Amino acid sequence: MTDSFNRTIDYVRIAVTDRCNLRCFYCMPATGIPYEPQAHLLSYEEITRLLNVLGGIGFRKVRFTGGEPFLRKDFMHLLENVAEIDAFKSIHITSNGTLLQKHIGRLKALGITKINLSIDSLDKKRFHEITRRDDFDKVMQSFHLLLDHGFQIKLNAVIMNGMNTQDIIPLAALAEHHAVDVRFIEEMPFNGGYKENSALYTARDILRNLEAEYPNLERLNSKHGDTATLYKIPDYHGNIGIIPAFSRTFCNTCNRLRISAKGEIKSCLYDDGVFNIRDFMRTGVTDTELADKFREIIRQKPKDGFEAEKLRKAPKAKLQSMSSIGG
Ligand code: GTP
Ligand code: 5AD
Ligand code: SF4
Repeated sequence: MTDSFNRTIDYVRIAVTDRCNLRCFYCMPATGIPYEPQAHLLSYEEITRLLNVLGGIGFRKVRFTGGEPFLRKDFMHLLENVAEIDAFKSIHITSNGTLLQKHIGRLKALGITKINLSIDSLDKKRFHEITRRDDFDKVMQSFHLLLDHGFQIKLNAVIMNGMNTQDIIPLAALAEHHAVDVRFIEEMPFNGGYKENSALYTARDILRNLEAEYPNLERLNSKHGDTATLYKIPDYHGNIGIIPAFSRTFCNTCNRLRISAKGEIKSCLYDDGVFNIRDFMRTGVTDTELADKFREIIRQKPKDGFEAEKLRKAPKAKLQSMSSIGG
C-alpha cells in the first residue's frame, strides 16, 4: 500500500515490550522508565491478528523490537506463530544480545536469522558506562555465536560526542573478518526526556572519521527503505553503515509503520502516536475495519520526520524513551 507521497509502506516494527535489562545512557535515565502494566500490552494473539491484517494489505517485513524483546515471556512462541504467516517471509529482530543465546537453535529452525544487535563500544569499561550494566562479555559471546550459526547480523552503535567516538574505528574493524554490517547511528533525543542530547556527532562527522582511517572507503548503492548509507572497505567481508537518524535524510524512501507495546501506532518515529490500535481492536472491530484503519493511517503518514515532529502533541521535553517507542 502506498502513502500520499507514493512511498510503498510494507514494513512494520512492533515493540513487544517496553522493558529492558540494560539502561543505555542515550535511551533512558539510570533509574529506568515507568513500565506499562502487563495487561496494557498487546497480547501475542492480538499481535498475530494485526500481522495477519497487515499482511493482507501488502506488508511483507516485520521487525520485533522492545525494550528488549527476549525479556517478554514466551517471545519464541510469538515468533513461532508469526513464522506461519505467509505474507511475512522476512522476520527481523533488534536485540541487545544479552538474553538470546539459549534461543539460537529455535530461531534458526524457524528461519529467523536476521538480527540487529546493539553494541556501542568494544571497550568493556566504556560498554558498562554506556549501558550501565556489566554485560559486555555476554553480548560479544552472542555476537560470535550468532555469526558461527550463520545469522545475518547488523551491529548498531549510537555514536556520542565525548562518549564513544574513539570506538568508531575498532568497531568498523569488526567488518574486516566478519560478514556484518557495522552501522554508526546519530543520537536522537528519545531518552525519556532526562537529558539534553549530547552535542550531536553527525553522520558527516562519522564519515570524516572513517575516511581519515580508510581513504578508499567506497559508497554503495542504498536499497530502498534503508536507513543506513552503506560503504565498503576493500577486502573487508562486511559493510560499514551510517544512519543519519537525527538528520533524517532518508525519509523520502521510508517504508515503515510502528506499533508500540501498548498498541500505539506511530506513522513516523518522530510523531507521538497517532492512534491506539489495541483499544480499537478491543471494541470488537472486524479485520476489514482494522485494515481500513491502517489504510487511513498510512494515507496520513507525514512527509518526513521534521513534519512529524511539528505535529507532536506533547512538548519536546516530554520525549519518550526509545525503550517504549521500539527503536
Ligand atoms: P533494517 O533496515 O530493517 O535493518 O532496520 P533498521 O536499521 O531501521 O533497524 P534498527 O532497529 O536496527 O535501527 C537502527 C537505528 O535506526 C536505530 O537507532 C533506529 O531508531 C533508527 N531508525 C530505524 N527506523 C528509523 C526511522 O524510520 N527513522 C529514523 N529517523 N530512524 C530510524
Ligand atoms: N538515538 C539513536 N539510536 C537509539 N537507539 C536507542 N536509543 C537511541 C537514541 N536515543 C538505538 C539502539 C538500538 C536501536 C533499536 O535504536 O542502539 O540498536
Ligand atoms: Fe535497552 Fe535498547 Fe534502550 Fe539500550 S537502547 S536501554 S538496549 S531498549
